[in-house]
Amino acid sequence: MSANNFDHLLAASIERGGLDRQQIAQILNFKLFGNPTGFLHLRHLPIGEIPPTPASREALHKHDDSSERLLLQATVLLGEPVGYLQESGGAIVNNFFPQRGQSRAATSDSFDTELDLHTENAFHAIQPDYLLLLCLRQDPEAEAITYVASAERILARLSYEEQLFFLNEPYNFLSDYGPSEKNQRIDIDKHQTVLYGDPDAPFLRFDPQFMLAFSNRAQALLERLRAIAWSVVEPIRLCPGDLLIIDNRRTVHARSRFDARFDGSDRWIQRAFAICNPRFYAERLGKQHRVFGLVTEL
Ligand SMILES: [Fe+2]
Repeated sequence: MSANNFDHLLAASIERGGLDRQQIAQILNFKLFGNPTGFLHLRHLPIGEIPPTPASREALHKHDDSSERLLLQATVLLGEPVGYLQESGGAIVNNFFPQRGQSRAATSDSFDTELDLHTENAFHAIQPDYLLLLCLRQDPEAEAITYVASAERILARLSYEEQLFFLNEPYNFLSDYGPSEKNQRIDIDKHQTVLYGDPDAPFLRFDPQFMLAFSNRAQALLERLRAIAWSVVEPIRLCPGDLLIIDNRRTVHARSRFDARFDGSDRWIQRAFAICNPRFYAERLGKQHRVFGLVTEL
């Protein structure tokens, strides 16, 4: 979609996104005040007519844009909608559904492999602040579960010493973005701590499959953190018309495996990312972007 067409869609989303006043208030409340779970789950939203789930991105033809408008309206309430070149070619609205050949890939197109707990783009200098998942179709067996664990619940189970450790100990965060594709494991020399920001209410970044510890103790504590995160997860089963908004700086999330039939009835999720400080990034990068490549430093 051209930038011009996207701006038209964005303008239409603001005018006619389909959220009612109460839902808009819930999203703004979540943005301003947060909550202990780190996510907001809205149900029964108007997503319009949904065609059979396509078999591939090339076969994706969706005439009713109600779901895109809804997703973008929610996204702009949280921040600036952005894309990444390595995610669906930089599309601002990403579509995920099972695709043959992607079954075991560690991406959102996979289905018969669990995606472990992680923060979205933990290695990236421009991490999404919010991640929005809009369910267009549930998987036929209703097996797919999204899990979210919040920093607040995780921190409650860490000792003061462990919290100090994670505020100070750097880990090497590997990039899964190559120049144009995902699913790499690239050392970009991104040494950063798991907890950061205000020590009294820290942010959290965590992706154990893409993190290297510098000592045995750091590795052991990373594994402990992963176990704690799994012990406090909230399971969410997304139904058609459900919107899940995840605070990506205060949570980790995961997804269970599920089955696919490739007959038009498979799970279909639309995703968008919001960043809250686009002007700061424009200042640091000397350029305004809506779609980012791999940015390692600001
Ligand atoms: Fe994710």
